[in-house]
Amino acid sequence: MLICGIETSCDETAVSIVEDGKKIIENRIFSQEAIHRPFGGVVPEVACRTHLEKIFLLLDELFNRNGLTYKDIDAWAVTYGPGLVGALLIGIATAKSLSCLTEKPLLAVNHIEGHLYANILEHQEIAFPWVGLVVSGGHTSLYFATRLGKYKLLGETVDDAAGEAFDKVAKLLSLGYPGGPAVEEAAKGGDRRKIKFPRPSGPKRRKDSFDFSFSGLKTAVLYYLRDHPEAATQKADVAAGFQEAVIEVLVGKTAEAARMFGVKTILVSGGVASNNRLRQEFRQFGENEGMNIFFPSPLLCTDNAAMIAGLGFSKLQNGEKASLDLGPVPGLKL
Ligand code: KG4
Ligand code: ZN
Repeated sequence: MLICGIETSCDETAVSIVEDGKKIIENRIFSQEAIHRPFGGVVPEVACRTHLEKIFLLLDELFNRNGLTYKDIDAWAVTYGPGLVGALLIGIATAKSLSCLTEKPLLAVNHIEGHLYANILEHQEIAFPWVGLVVSGGHTSLYFATRLGKYKLLGETVDDAAGEAFDKVAKLLSLGYPGGPAVEEAAKGGDRRKIKFPRPSGPKRRKDSFDFSFSGLKTAVLYYLRDHPEAATQKADVAAGFQEAVIEVLVGKTAEAARMFGVKTILVSGGVASNNRLRQEFRQFGENEGMNIFFPSPLLCTDNAAMIAGLGFSKLQNGEKASLDLGPVPGLKL
């Protein structure tokens, strides 16, 4: 079965064809990064216009390069939330048109579930139950999963997402946009123990609640820079100290959740999961405690349509077809 996935929830215009939920035929991504860079962040209106300009160009390339036509597709999977409303709308309208044209099912996919699935797409040995951390520019959420489609939200950020904190600290340090890779690069030349930023534990609403909070950490960096004018020449140490604080919190909470739920498998995904220092710390923890830690390859960490097409296949198998009045749900939960 060939599923075509379409993802336009933020600033990546992405299309992909995946066979049987496992084999990626091609994963095409047009990153709008350079277009948004002069603004220092994603401008929703610009993102929508760019999706509109690019989506059919990308689809044409995808099909031509692989010798396929729209008729070869068995179903069309599309992200319907969470994300920017106008951006989601472009992907949904495209998928609906193609579903109508080809008389093949439309499948509605939750972007966060897509990020979780990115790991399963690449690592078919993953067995349930597991604890999954989605850590990106828009989300920092921790789940306990017993099967595909059955998730318990253990915690989420109450303010900034971890990726958002990376982006904001990069701005404070004038490291450019997007901030995550820039902070990681700068941190390589720094001493991660020199500046000890707070490790925000987040509110503990219940015994088994694992919420995150990163805005205080960002403010701590802001105050540090204000109170230490010499820090402008020590950007690497600030970046390394900040990165270490974020990583310690992410690994610590995920570890705590895995122990509490007695799982031996941890899935980490989303844009921030491409951070090498984060991967290193998770792997170390896995080795110490005999847990299996999985990450997608970097191209499947950030927004992509292969994860949407892959997950679409399981929706098709479960008969979960969407109707043609599907609309965007910007605040969609998982
Ligand atoms: O998953 P994604 O492409 O989009 C969302 O769904 O948000 O994630 C983008 C986020 C950005 O905040 C970016 O700064 C962050 O992921 N990111 C990183 C790294 N690469 C991307 N953060 C830390 N280290 C990285 N290497
Ligand atoms: Zn995402």
